[in-house]
Amino acid sequence: MSKISVIGAGNVGATCVNAIAHMKFVSELVLLDIKEGVAEGKALDMMQTANLYQFNTRITGVTNDYSATEGSDVVIITSGVPRKPGMTREELIGVNAGIVNSVVENVLKHSPEAILIMIANPMDTMTYLTHKTSKLPKNRIIGMGGILDSSRFMCYLSKALNVPASDVHGMVIGGHGDTTMIPLLRFANYKGIPVTDLLDKEAAEKVAADTMVGGATLTKLLGTSAWYAPGAAGAVLAKAIIMDEKKVMPCCAYLDGEYGQKDICIGVPVVLGKNGIEKVVELDLNNEEKELFEKSAAAVRKTNNVLHDMKLI
Ligand code: APR
Repeated sequence: MSKISVIGAGNVGATCVNAIAHMKFVSELVLLDIKEGVAEGKALDMMQTANLYQFNTRITGVTNDYSATEGSDVVIITSGVPRKPGMTREELIGVNAGIVNSVVENVLKHSPEAILIMIANPMDTMTYLTHKTSKLPKNRIIGMGGILDSSRFMCYLSKALNVPASDVHGMVIGGHGDTTMIPLLRFANYKGIPVTDLLDKEAAEKVAADTMVGGATLTKLLGTSAWYAPGAAGAVLAKAIIMDEKKVMPCCAYLDGEYGQKDICIGVPVVLGKNGIEKVVELDLNNEEKELFEKSAAAVRKTNNVLHDMKLI
């Protein structure tokens, strides 16, 4: 028996619940929102697809009733304001920090052993805030950013190479921001062949640049931030934990000396299993990649400092 709760029944939260149900790895799913009736309605709508898709997960929707989340193994936090065209993820900090703090407090009252997955933006800073306020061990708070950014990276790479996205592998590390993420072209491959052998420099750099503004491109088109890929990425992350997969995925993790960084949450490859982040994997970065990582960490710290300025930590 396993249970996942998703806080926030908006675009990302509802898509995430839907993806988890379709992936059939959990027995109970709870969707919670503050807006009266929204989570109940979406949960009921999804339950009416159970026969069509042949899943047996029970999905319950509730309005702000945290007792329904009792005993969750994993809680995914999507409650927060999404960005609008022209906004950066960092600009959401004030309003989302207040929401995240109250949500985390309520979640932990009912599921003190849960592993928390943070999706609300600015995600690296919301993950850091939760580390500071909840005082949970570092393995139990994971930010979802790198899996999404990497999936966008694979999407653009597969287009450039004209091959299926499922046959390309690669990772994005660093902060989950348009200027802070680092698509690692040197580590990316198609069927084991380095993509740097298959694409010329200009094409490879375009893939990296498109990846970095992947979210902003969608925000411009949709008038709000994206949800299919963010919801699916949250589901894949939750599955790795519930199924104790021990998969290596790039996630936002608290660093305590790894990659030469301390007291920061930022995207790095980690081993994911039933204990959450079971290990931080240290890649052998070259000097250029190390420099990009340091710059990225400095930018994430700058946003984290707003938490100090606002006396939130
Ligand atoms: N408790 C529970 N739910 C809340 C709370 C709260 N305190 N505050 C807001 N919500 C809910 C809203 O009522 C809304 O239904 O969170 C939901 C957010 O949904 P959307 O506005 O559709 O936003 P979405 O696109 O899902 O993005 C959510 O994920 O990717 C990030 O940047 C994005 O921070 C944003 C978050």
